[in-house]
Amino acid sequence: MTQRALYRPALVVLESPEAVAAEVAQRILRFVETRAHPVLGLATGRTPLAVYARLAAAHRAGTSFAAVESFNLDEYFGLGPAHPGAFACYMRRHFFEQVDMLAGHGHVPSGLGDPALEARAYEATIAAAGGIGLQLLGIGRNGHIGFNEPGSEFDSRTRIVTLDESTRRANAKDFPEGTEVPREAITMGIGTILEARRIVLVATGEAKSEALHAAFHRPPSRGCPASALQLHPRVELVCDVGAAQGLRL
Ligand code: PGA
Repeated sequence: MTQRALYRPALVVLESPEAVAAEVAQRILRFVETRAHPVLGLATGRTPLAVYARLAAAHRAGTSFAAVESFNLDEYFGLGPAHPGAFACYMRRHFFEQVDMLAGHGHVPSGLGDPALEARAYEATIAAAGGIGLQLLGIGRNGHIGFNEPGSEFDSRTRIVTLDESTRRANAKDFPEGTEVPREAITMGIGTILEARRIVLVATGEAKSEALHAAFHRPPSRGCPASALQLHPRVELVCDVGAAQGLRL
């Protein structure tokens, strides 16, 4: 790898997952309220649920999301947007339908159709929106960001990927009994994620502490996709004491 500047994330450690969600929601709200056209990158999974609940509460208290355009990181391949395991379904249920975002402004990559065409179109839509201003990001136990599993290139773009068995097992509980977790997904690439102007990485619980340690205390390497975040000058890591255990930042 050619020599590039490495950065450390701005770390905030809070007592509980609830405090983490409140802090992350605050940062998103400040971003949304201070921009004419806020473009958010959004994530799914268990960790962001409490963040979306707080954003929905802020909307009920008067905050408008009508100017927001958002781009989700990823989607299972082969699932239509109505499938209960699809991230499109998660996003409608937990965020889009809870706030006043305009129809068509909450983008989730399509899990149907020609993946190469969809991937190119998704990148073009992000570019047309002016790029992502604030990317909300989680981290997998195996260090994945989006569905960029270990081995992903740091300059990868939106594309179809094969999911790790560990990821399929971790996400099995989001699928109805007897339904298989898809083996493939479409995800923003690491290169796509690194183009966000600001990244808010959120992690809670001891189970994430090793992944965070690998991401920020070892040289960047493809074995830990999140270690690519050391190449980004504006990463804010908000985590609880459990997840922060291995960090000395
Ligand atoms: P989680 O997922 O919030 O459900 O732990 C995070 C991730 O896999 O990126």
